[in-house]
Amino acid sequence: MSHSIEPDPAKQAAARAAVSMVQDGMRLGLGTGSTANIMVRELAQRIRAEGLSLRCAATSDATAALAESLGIRIEKLDEIGWLDLTIDGADEIDPDLHLIKGGGGAHLREKIVAAASDRMVVIADPGKIVDQLGAFPLPVEVLQFGFETTHRLIRRALDKQDMAEVEVLHRLKGSDPWVTDEGNWILDLHLGAIEDPLTLARSLSAIPGVVEHGLFLGMCCKAIIGKPDGTVVEL
Ligand code: 5RP
Repeated sequence: MSHSIEPDPAKQAAARAAVSMVQDGMRLGLGTGSTANIMVRELAQRIRAEGLSLRCAATSDATAALAESLGIRIEKLDEIGWLDLTIDGADEIDPDLHLIKGGGGAHLREKIVAAASDRMVVIADPGKIVDQLGAFPLPVEVLQFGFETTHRLIRRALDKQDMAEVEVLHRLKGSDPWVTDEGNWILDLHLGAIEDPLTLARSLSAIPGVVEHGLFLGMCCKAIIGKPDGTVVEL
């Protein structure tokens, strides 16, 4: 007897609606996370049913492995060059469609892929909508070289922005550092609320050793929010 786990209906509704935007011949970016995984499965079904011809790049090794296991050929982003559409999940979405991403530790590749796309559409359940970013810890991918120094520089940047209380925690997998697909480590910034996302983003990007932070500002053009009853709302 097989025990298949039914996907979350809200995530599935969002994923299905986003996949309905896909047209034959498109170049697609495939996101990372549980909602993106549902999207990849929905996409595989459409490809099988309709014989769509697509070119796809993945935002993580995990997504690439899932897609390939479902018969979707994954190419390197540089082989495709430019993408028509990227569909990805998010950890937080604010009213301006600014995002926090990187809960799954893939925000570096996710941001590169989104930046190489005409459109980035985010799919999520209603729990991801917030009035203000920051309750979800902000992931910052950091080089292993000089890690403690980079940590101190991030601390100093936060102190200068009156965020001395913010905890900066090294993300672990068990007792070992979490290692990203690019071989880096992650610091999670427990900000609580981000008053000025742009200033924070700029100050983090200016620190040597910071590879990429999980603030996606002005990158997402549409959020498709699935609801438990299977309907969707577009923001
Ligand atoms: C991974 C991400 C994911 O898109 C984000 O964490 C949302 O994941 P999920 O759909 O599982 O809630 O940014 O780096």
